[in-house]
Amino acid sequence: MKTVLVTGAAGFIGSCVVRQWIQDTDWKVVALDALTYAGNLASLAPVSDSGRFQFVPADIRDAEAVRAAITGYQPDLIAHLAAESHVDRSIHGPRDFIETNVVGTFVMLEEARAYWAALPEERKANFRFHHISTDEVFGTLGEDGYFSETTAYAPNSPYSASKAGSDHLVRAWYHTYGFPAVTTNCSNNYGPYHFPEKLIPLMILNGLAGKPLPVYGDGKNIRDWLFVEDHARALRLVLERGQVGEVYCIGGRAERTNLQVVSLLCEILDELHPKGAPHNRLVTFVKDRPGHDRRYAIDCSKIEQELGWKQQESFETGLRKTVQWFLDNPEWVQNVQSGDYRHWVDLNYAERSTG
Ligand code: NAD
Ligand code: DAU
Repeated sequence: MKTVLVTGAAGFIGSCVVRQWIQDTDWKVVALDALTYAGNLASLAPVSDSGRFQFVPADIRDAEAVRAAITGYQPDLIAHLAAESHVDRSIHGPRDFIETNVVGTFVMLEEARAYWAALPEERKANFRFHHISTDEVFGTLGEDGYFSETTAYAPNSPYSASKAGSDHLVRAWYHTYGFPAVTTNCSNNYGPYHFPEKLIPLMILNGLAGKPLPVYGDGKNIRDWLFVEDHARALRLVLERGQVGEVYCIGGRAERTNLQVVSLLCEILDELHPKGAPHNRLVTFVKDRPGHDRRYAIDCSKIEQELGWKQQESFETGLRKTVQWFLDNPEWVQNVQSGDYRHWVDLNYAERSTG
């Protein structure tokens, strides 16, 4: 039985990874998380009774805590997802992004390298460190073309610059020390348990509450959407079969403008929550995000061809499942709508609508 240590395990993607891997594998999963505003133990509740699940409260900037977790649980694999992840927050306050995404990744690399170096030969040969990153490191696209594994880095926000920094560290640890790392760069995820500061869950919850749906700028920025369960399946495949030192781009082949996303959400809400219909009356154009990247789109043919990954969910079916999940889980929503969340959403909206 393999042991995988997952950092950022109480977040949106990390918790999906943990729930899915407990359900679909015989792996022991050690879930490490500092439980920042974005971390939520309720997202791990469905698997918390499993004998193969262990939660470790730890901050990746704390080398001693990371060392204790790694040496204590002796993982065969590490999936590193812990990060500050929200672009708007990085514009307001970049420090946490540098400290967690850059310095925290450095700590993870150093502690994992020391552990790996001392492993017996066979375990050493099979050990993998998987760094989970974003397509935002590539900057922005014009009307044509796609990001791929060979696209030059051109990060535009403090968030994407901090993730680019972490990607470069991982690359250097492989080239310099032969540390067995692999990196994935994925497009926008959506799905159940998504923290409601991000576009899709924010629009669902505001729509249900009859509040404005704040669309930044002209609403024509394009993102490439992937259902989170499909991302989690891709990450497992990369851990199992990815080549050391390689990078894999993961995307949904589902480019949509933000306005298209919001319109479709309004249609689904009209059907599943007719009380507030028509929801598109709530659409409100607000001040744009500074430095707002225009278009992201991923060419994911490498992971499809080399590892046989294929997404299972279309954007339309995935979005419907997501809205239904939020309707069915008001307790989870209440739980995450803490003081910090409310303060942030109110501040962000006030600044944009008066800007
Ligand atoms: P999230 O914000 O929902 O979750 C991040 C988790 O990391 C939280 O549980 C938080 O408590 C934890 N964390 C933050 N700082 C920490 C620290 N110092 N020590 C330990 N834990 C800490 O983020 P997400 O959307 O689940 O993203 C997970 C990863 O995937 C990130 O690395 C992100 O860059 C990457 N990614 C996200 C997307 C997306 O669309 N959400 C797309 C591509 C890549
Ligand atoms: O591309 C991958 C990235 O996707 C991840 O690395 C990030 O962690 C993740 O947060 C996401 O970044 P985005 O900035 O693309 O996601 P966000 O949900 O914040 O915004 C999506 C689009 O919607 C973007 O063009 C900004 C716009 N937007 C967002 C919010 C929150 C609005 O128009 N209104 C809003 O209220």
